[in-house]
Amino acid sequence: MLVFMRLHAMVRKRVNSWYYMNKKVHIKTYGCQMNVYDSVRMADVLAPAGYEETPLLEEADLVILNTCHIREKAAEKVYSELGRLRDFRKESGRGDMLIAVGGCVAQAEGEEMLRRAPYVDFVMGSQSYHELPRLVREARTKKGGGVALDFPQVQKFDLLPQESRAQGSAAFVAVQEGCDKFCTFCVVPYTRGAEYSRPHADIMREVRDLVENKGAIEVTLLGQNVNAYHGGVSLAGLIVQLAEIEGLERIRYTTSHPRDMRDDLLEAHRDIPKLMPYLHLPIQAGSDRILKAMNRKHTAAEYIETIEKLRALRLDMAFSGDFIVGFPGESDEDFEDTLRVVETVGYASAYSFKYSPRPGTPAADMEAQVPEEVKSERLSRLQALLNRQMQQFNESCVGREMEVILDRPGKHPGQLVGRSPYNQAVHVENAAHLAGKLVKLRITSASANSLGGELAQGAASEAA
Ligand code: 5AD
Ligand code: SF4
Repeated sequence: MLVFMRLHAMVRKRVNSWYYMNKKVHIKTYGCQMNVYDSVRMADVLAPAGYEETPLLEEADLVILNTCHIREKAAEKVYSELGRLRDFRKESGRGDMLIAVGGCVAQAEGEEMLRRAPYVDFVMGSQSYHELPRLVREARTKKGGGVALDFPQVQKFDLLPQESRAQGSAAFVAVQEGCDKFCTFCVVPYTRGAEYSRPHADIMREVRDLVENKGAIEVTLLGQNVNAYHGGVSLAGLIVQLAEIEGLERIRYTTSHPRDMRDDLLEAHRDIPKLMPYLHLPIQAGSDRILKAMNRKHTAAEYIETIEKLRALRLDMAFSGDFIVGFPGESDEDFEDTLRVVETVGYASAYSFKYSPRPGTPAADMEAQVPEEVKSERLSRLQALLNRQMQQFNESCVGREMEVILDRPGKHPGQLVGRSPYNQAVHVENAAHLAGKLVKLRITSASANSLGGELAQGAASEAA
């Protein structure tokens, strides 16, 4: 009996390794930075099972769409992408290619997704990536609809590999996930679950490893509500500790809620030079009546006060924001209030959206939904104003010297693209030898979306 069991185990091991050998996974990511980070972790989980990541769909044995559910169109895009994948699989004779869906659309749609797209091999929610090897194995052996959608008791972070893969000079680290705020328009509290902060010792370990062994010089701390972080220390406390890591030059964090901008975090912007003078702080709307209906738990004046405090603490602070136009009940006057906030703040960058009712959220059932034409008209007025501000901000950078991490190749030979302290893309020519480095550039040109720069005097010797 024992011999038989041993033999069985040996055969199973063989078959498994044969199954997994030299397989390729192609991961397509939608939505926020958290999803980008999750995609990296998915690849990490699959690596020991013999899966190597590929940028080419054509050579993939497994395709994963890591989806975003924040707005309606995003979910529709997933379904059309799935249709294209099904056609590709059929036309290219790749019947053995697995198609999987992860992320927030998967979490929200759940089994409904398998009904609407029955050719999908498995669906997994945003807390279930540690289950990937099992899901793949099962999908290979018995065709058809695997599902993993639980919010497990054990937190996802504890189940994923502790070590993060090299992500280049600018790395991302998830410090917090989920949200307890329940803004009435938003699916995140339902798709990502309750707020959870990782213990700060784990984050310190991960960032040290990224800096010491994987070439990171910048780290962005990620969370849906990152400034609600409370993993033993506050976000400010975490930033103070991270700033002590030698070789780490820059720290960012995103996305923040105005209610959680505590004094210690504001002061960190004054006290910690490594913390970038740039903050993404969504307000969504400028009318207090609408902010209340959105359950944002702050007024427009309180938001502006936070911005002013930060500007007083650090003179070169710049801001980006998120806006929603056409929330149920938004009148012309309410919308004018949003424009007024934008005029008052003066944004360096911004994202703006038409309100999109998400099933299951309170706002979707509110009366006085705003007609589509009105939303479109408001969105174009708001975007015209924001685009002018972004252009102005970019132009105000011309002539300044800025430190830029040159982390990507550009379109033409020798060109590199990097990120300024304000997250603007900066292009520089004839700089191939400085790839991955932090260099001082003089900004020479500006467009609505990017800057051009040249090496500042002495920059080569200052390169990190
Ligand atoms: N409709 C439109 N925009 C939304 N956002 C979140 N939910 C919705 C929705 N239902 C926007 C918010 C948020 C950003 C990530 O997406 O502006 O800050
Ligand atoms: Fe959504 Fe509001 Fe939470 Fe942001 S704070 S994730 S908008 S519920």
